[in-house]
Amino acid sequence: MKKFAVVGNPVNHSLSPVIHQQFARQFDIQLEYTKIQVEAGEFQNVVNTFRHQGGAGLNVTVPYKTDAYAISQQLSTSATLAKAVNTLIFNAESIKGDNTDGTGLVNDLIHNHGFNITNKSILILGAGGAVSGVLGPLLIQQPQVIVIANRTVAKAIDLQQNFSHLGSIIGCGLDQIKSLKFDLIINGTAASLAGQTPSIDIDLLKDVQFAYDMMYASEATVFMRWAQANGVEWVADGLGMLVEQAAAAFEIWHGVKPDTRQVLIKLRA
Ligand code: ATR
Repeated sequence: MKKFAVVGNPVNHSLSPVIHQQFARQFDIQLEYTKIQVEAGEFQNVVNTFRHQGGAGLNVTVPYKTDAYAISQQLSTSATLAKAVNTLIFNAESIKGDNTDGTGLVNDLIHNHGFNITNKSILILGAGGAVSGVLGPLLIQQPQVIVIANRTVAKAIDLQQNFSHLGSIIGCGLDQIKSLKFDLIINGTAASLAGQTPSIDIDLLKDVQFAYDMMYASEATVFMRWAQANGVEWVADGLGMLVEQAAAAFEIWHGVKPDTRQVLIKLRA
C-alpha cells in the first residue's frame, strides 16, 4: 500500500487524510494517509525518515511550505513562482516539489462557485505565504487587475515585483488601496485567527459581488460576516479550495482526477 501523509504544525485538525481517503475510494485505490506533527527544526529529518520508510508523497502545510521548497530537487512552475511547496513527490532518484494551492483556489472559484476570473478586478488582503502561493494561477486567468493590500506594505510591493511579468498587479498598504471597482475580494490574511477583520475603507466593498475567505471554519468566518454586514451577499470560505488543492495533489500522485463535489458535500454535512 502506498504511504502518504500531511506534515505541519499544528496538524491535528487537518482534513487532508479524510479527503484523500474519500478520493481513493472513488478509484478503489488502497492507500495509507497519516498526519505528522513536525516540531521546529525537524522538517528535514521527518521528510528523510518518511521517504526512507517507503513514503510516496507528502502534503506540506503551515509553517513548512518554504522548507519544502528548499529541499526539493525539482520544482514545478507553480512551486517556482510561489517559492513554496505544498506537495512533495518522492521517487528513487529525487524529491519533486509542486504547489497546488493556486490551482485549488482557481478551480474552487470557477467550477464550484461559477465565478469567472478573467477581466475581473480583484482585491486581495494579505501578502504572506498563502497569498504568494495563489498569485501565479490567478494571474494566468487574466484578471483585469489584482491589488494586493497588506499591513506590512513592503511585502505587498515585493509580490508586485515578483509577479508583474504575469499580469497587472499592484501592491499597497491596507490604507492606501486605490478606489477601484472591485468585483472580488479575497481574504488571505491570518487576521481571522485572532478574530479580527481587515481594517480597510468599507466603501471599497460597494461594487464587490463576491467575498471569499481562504480560511474555513464550521460556521461563517469573521471575514464572511464582516463582508455580509457591509452589503456583500455572496460570500464563501476556503473549504472548497482545500478540497481542490487536495484533488490536484491526488492527481499528481495517482494520475487520476477525483470528483471533488461529492467530497465537498460530505464535508459540509
Ligand atoms: P500564511 O502562510 O497564512 O500566509 P504568513 O505568511 O505569516 O501566513 O502571512 C500572514 C498574513 O496575514 C500577512 O499578510 C500578515 O500581515 P503582515 O505581513 O503585515 O504581518 C497578515 N495578518 C496577520 N494578522 C493580521 C491582522 N491582525 N491584520 C491584518 N493582517 C494580518
